[in-house]
Amino acid sequence: MASSPVLVLLFLIMGFLGAVFCVSSPAETNTLNPGQMLRDWEQLISPSGIFRLGFFTPEKTPSSLLGPAGPRYIGIWFDRIQINPVWVGNPMNPVIDSSGALTIGPDGILKITQANGSPIMVNPKPQLSLAGNVSATLLDSGNFIVREVGAGGVPGRVLWQSFDYPSNVLLPGMKIGFNLKTGKEVSVKSWICNQVPSPGAFRLGLDPSGADQLLIWRRNEVYWSSGIWKNGTSSHLNLELSREYIDYEFKFHSDKYDRYFTYFIKDTNQSVLSRWYLDTLGQVTVNNVISSNGSTHWILESSETCRTGLKNASALCISEKPTACRKGSEYFEPKRGYMLQELGKNDLSYYDGNSSLDLSDCHASCWRNCSCIAFQTFSGGFGCQFWPKGSKFTPEETSDQLTYVLDSAKL
Ligand SMILES: *[C@@H]1O[C@H](CO)[C@@H](O)[C@H](O)[C@H]1NC(C)=O
Ligand SMILES: *[C@@H]1O[C@H](CO)[C@@H](O)[C@H](O)[C@H]1NC(C)=O
Ligand SMILES: *[C@@H]1O[C@H](CO)[C@@H](O)[C@H](O)[C@H]1NC(C)=O
Ligand SMILES: *[C@@H]1O[C@H](CO)[C@@H](O)[C@H](O)[C@H]1NC(C)=O
Ligand SMILES: *[C@@H]1O[C@H](CO)[C@@H](O)[C@H](O)[C@H]1NC(C)=O
Repeated sequence: MASSPVLVLLFLIMGFLGAVFCVSSPAETNTLNPGQMLRDWEQLISPSGIFRLGFFTPEKTPSSLLGPAGPRYIGIWFDRIQINPVWVGNPMNPVIDSSGALTIGPDGILKITQANGSPIMVNPKPQLSLAGNVSATLLDSGNFIVREVGAGGVPGRVLWQSFDYPSNVLLPGMKIGFNLKTGKEVSVKSWICNQVPSPGAFRLGLDPSGADQLLIWRRNEVYWSSGIWKNGTSSHLNLELSREYIDYEFKFHSDKYDRYFTYFIKDTNQSVLSRWYLDTLGQVTVNNVISSNGSTHWILESSETCRTGLKNASALCISEKPTACRKGSEYFEPKRGYMLQELGKNDLSYYDGNSSLDLSDCHASCWRNCSCIAFQTFSGGFGCQFWPKGSKFTPEETSDQLTYVLDSAKL
């Protein structure tokens, strides 16, 4: 099912961006202690100012945050790239207004308190019995850790870390794979849509068979594989372009306790912000921002997971298997407008209100149903609507709802 070994998407040079560093105020800190509160408008900043942790609303920049912005999530983002957080602490339970505040209890539990709802737990109670104080600290790696603090502030054992609970982003130093003792798996999960960070249909993780390869699952089926990594590269994610600038280290670790994949950036004389981002259609984009010699380069490379040869560039980039009524070359095209059903037909337009369904699930259902020629999805996760043959599409440019219409539909 893996498609062609491609591709480089885009290479932008944005020299001026180096000038847009934010200045951090002296009051800013990287640590939250028991008794303190990180309120909706406050943020932690990692020691070198690389990452921030605070409340955000998806698709809005975290700093444009005040007011009746809701839903609010606690997250971590690159200070310089405020869109697209790299981690979300409460993906299933947003705060509905700006009354949220992150706290840490003496028991090591991170909790979001809010005015109009019950507290939201970010982590479970640490299993270890605690010897002293605890604190929560945002590191320059982007990892947010809860740890013991001994006498005189000496850091002790790590009790919990955000790197073990990825959202849709893999950062350098994060480990995805398996703990062989507990059976626990760590993987990167796509969002249900760009506005809602709860898990959608796709997951990026380590091949459980033991091979040195990464897989993307769509629900429970393998959707894409990187190919076996050899000599620091794989056939379906070769990072050819960024390798010219970046000295990567890719590591597949295996011992009797755990198996995992991780990567590092080895360069020391330039600053690289690197992340792998799994989007809502199951595609991984490797995004590197390299600052050196006074200029900034953005390099985006992607695992082209959708079938190649799509006839229309605006078609949804997602692969489905051929069926009795779909050859495999059909595509759904997003259009602004609405569908009208033909009266007097037996097949009716049909609604599936399962709130866990994302765009790719609606696509798959319509693909599998021979009478389906169009569908809509409801951002925010309220399910899918499908239309049968005979329904007519009517364009309406002002509509903010997209309808995905089969290319070959006789409309
Ligand atoms: C391994 O990769 C390096 C560059 O990263 C290349 O110079 C070398 O020839 C490769 N070795 C093999 C056996 O492919
Ligand atoms: C910075 O300059 C050095 C030496 O001129 C060059 O080798 C390197 O590729 C440059 N880095 C970038 C990211 O352009
Ligand atoms: C692709 O879709 C666009 C938008 O509907 C349309 O204008 C264009 O003609 C299509 N191109 C092809 C090759 O079908
Ligand atoms: C809703 O959809 C999800 C994802 O496909 C599925 O796992 C779940 O079983 C569905 N729930 C119901 C009630 O059909
Ligand atoms: C297929 O789509 C038609 C028309 O929307 C609908 O009436 C029918 O229930 C669907 N069949 C299945 C198996 O989902």
